[in-house]
Amino acid sequence: MPDTRLRPRRSALYVPGSNARAIEKARSLDADVLIFDLEDAVAPDRKEEARRNVAEALAKGGYRAERVIRVNHLSTREGVADLKMAARSGCDAVLLPKVEGAKDVRDASLRLGASGAAEMTLWCMIETPVAVLRVEEVAFASPHLACLVMGTSDLTKDLRARHTNDRLPVITSLSLCLLAARAAGLLILDGVHLDLDDEKGFLDSCRQGAEMGFDGRTLIHPKTIAGANAAYGPSADDVAWSKRIIDAHTRALAEGKGVVVVDGKLIENVHVEVAERTLALAGAIAARG
Ligand code: COA
Ligand code: MG
Repeated sequence: MPDTRLRPRRSALYVPGSNARAIEKARSLDADVLIFDLEDAVAPDRKEEARRNVAEALAKGGYRAERVIRVNHLSTREGVADLKMAARSGCDAVLLPKVEGAKDVRDASLRLGASGAAEMTLWCMIETPVAVLRVEEVAFASPHLACLVMGTSDLTKDLRARHTNDRLPVITSLSLCLLAARAAGLLILDGVHLDLDDEKGFLDSCRQGAEMGFDGRTLIHPKTIAGANAAYGPSADDVAWSKRIIDAHTRALAEGKGVVVVDGKLIENVHVEVAERTLALAGAIAARG
């Protein structure tokens, strides 16, 4: 399994492959991940142009973020051409849309192998009812799979649900996918917030996603990067608290005690593990600059 889990993935911005200005601007943005999109964000008659743009941009370089390419579905001619380009592009991962079972993941791996990129990391979109029902099978499908990405717009459409502030209509799906990701040791990113004028709704749903355990959020506009980075990254208070409980627990162990109470809260091994991960993530974010 690709072990890149302690890189921050708080913010993952979709960058349309047909938008040259957005591809250029992405070099200056503070997103942890850039998802160069060849699929939904690109009109059918601009697929080839988008593929060329993304190949040229990655060859030129200058991106600080992790670089992921979302290809078209591999049942299409465009998807096959996208995957061949991605195999040679030097990207960090390929994101497969509309994955609905282990076979889709293995098929992509085989095709990448045939293009000389057998070790390429795969990410999968979970965005249909079938995918949610088979998410455990998908999550364990391949040692090259590293991340699940929720496609909540497609999922909401297929469920005939509505977009609500509390996201209750998709909460079961989000939870099932989160369970599968954690069971398989994968990353998982939450879906996009479509209303760009609704900052409060965006931040509230980021907080909800972070509380559920998501590693980060997929985004459609640069103005939402800072909010996602703040919501999914450790705050200064989280870091200070983590240091305090690690210190207190270390002192308790030295005195032969396995537990300690800090500010009225019981601290055991399990809390120390969480605190250590929090500090490691804060360190990884600081190292990114
Ligand atoms: N990635 C990189 N840069 C982006 C961007 C993105 N996704 N969205 C906007 N920008 C840039 C614009 O190019 C513009 O740059 P500039 O002012 O420095 O030239 C700046 O951010 C402000 O953009 P703005 O004018 O507010 O938005 P817009 O009208 O250009 O674009 C959208 C709005 C929604 C069309 C655009 O954000 C977008 O295409 N988002 C991605 C959609 C997508 O990928 N969908 C599929 C996955 S859900
Ligand atoms: Mg989709």
